Amino acid sequence: MIFNQLFDDKSSTYTYVIASGEGREALIIDPVIEHTEEYIKLLENLKLKLVKVIDTHIHADHITGLNELSKRTDCSKIMGEHSKSEVIDLKIKDNEKIEIEKIELTAIYTPGHTDCSYSYLMNDRVFTGDTLLINGTGRTDFQNGNSYDAYESIFNRLLKLPENTFVYPAHDYNGKKHSTIRDEKNNNPRLQVNSKEEYAEIMNNLKLANPKMMDVAVPANIKGLTLKEL
Ligand code: FE2
Repeated sequence: MIFNQLFDDKSSTYTYVIASGEGREALIIDPVIEHTEEYIKLLENLKLKLVKVIDTHIHADHITGLNELSKRTDCSKIMGEHSKSEVIDLKIKDNEKIEIEKIELTAIYTPGHTDCSYSYLMNDRVFTGDTLLINGTGRTDFQNGNSYDAYESIFNRLLKLPENTFVYPAHDYNGKKHSTIRDEKNNNPRLQVNSKEEYAEIMNNLKLANPKMMDVAVPANIKGLTLKEL
């Protein structure tokens, strides 16, 4: 299998390029617009045909590469059914499958960080977006985020996956690339709580500043525009 985890320094975003083998169909999860050329080169080098591109949710800290990639490769743009994006080709539902040649992903609706957040399970690994991070969890104080929904998504969906499932998040700010459900269950400081209320109490008192790009990134990502076009 081809599995490339790429990193955007500016927003600390992880992007995943996935295919079953050279010369086959590929899909990309959470691309960042500034790296479009890099993705295209990688696809060319591996003789891959990009057919699907997914955003786990509407990002507030970077402009998505979905639209540029779609213009360049004609791949279809996918998000969950709750996404407010106006340029998505296919909005998928909880438990629906996304398939490319010899690869299958299962969509898991995991609201809380935003109301449109989805995670994607692929065999031994799960792409958690910003719902579950390594030693952290996505903030719940904007974009219709909700700490109670986040608790449900994390504790009753993601942490119910087999414990040795690898966790691949959309961001990491400390150089960590992946983790497992077991490690997060045991060591993630945000998850050492006894109730929904206790989790909400932590999340509702983080007092974080808004992401620098939020005011432009959210509308641009909803409309499928670049910063210049906004
Ligand atoms: Fe996010």
